[in-house]
Amino acid sequence: CLTPDLLHLHNIDNTIVIVTDIFRATSCMVTGFAYGVKAIIPVETVEECQALQAKGFIAAAERNAQKVDGFELDNSPFSYMDEKLIGEKIAMTTTNGTYSISKAKSSAVKVLVGAFLNLNAIVEYLKTQPYDVLVLCAGWKGRTNLEDTLFAGALVDAVQNEYFVAEDSAIMSMRLYQQAKDDMLGYLANSSHIRRLQRLGINKDISYCLQRDLYDVVPVLRGNELVNM
Ligand code: MLT
Repeated sequence: CLTPDLLHLHNIDNTIVIVTDIFRATSCMVTGFAYGVKAIIPVETVEECQALQAKGFIAAAERNAQKVDGFELDNSPFSYMDEKLIGEKIAMTTTNGTYSISKAKSSAVKVLVGAFLNLNAIVEYLKTQPYDVLVLCAGWKGRTNLEDTLFAGALVDAVQNEYFVAEDSAIMSMRLYQQAKDDMLGYLANSSHIRRLQRLGINKDISYCLQRDLYDVVPVLRGNELVNM
């Protein structure tokens, strides 16, 4: 599903949904768990995040790729490589990533968080599961993003022999990934969120988030909290 606004077209009752927002929400969550964060509470709105902050949670809020005033953390994976966050629970809202998690959580069998950083860990986990799989690409405010589509394609490419690939969007994603895989950064040049991040001077996050299999981490939603399985 290439945008959360089309998720209603899919029946996900028997399905594991893997939410991906490569730049940067899910790459940031995966990095947080790899560096020892205990749980992330993803919420849709800034107000919900503020309410959790008022209850004592460390809180992260991003809108339009920038930190929202009054919150401790932004959405950069580098902000989560911090020993002060080890063992902590973090409330988080982001423009598209946590919105997508909220969309999926009421009907999916499980909601996982995927990024290139933990792609192989997700693939290995799926091999143990009997369910259908849907990759939910967070995109940008209802529009499709190329980097999330490439992640979906990489996942389809990795599991295509074990599954019936039911959707043309999955076939399209896989073919795009196969074209892009040897130089993803070059393939993504001029893509919309890279341009947005570059305008804001957020450069090092881009190549960081395109690295594959750095972390053996599988974030899964348990109730309202993401934890590392
Ligand atoms: C989002 O959730 O929309 C993103 O993570 C935006 C960003 O790059 O900060």
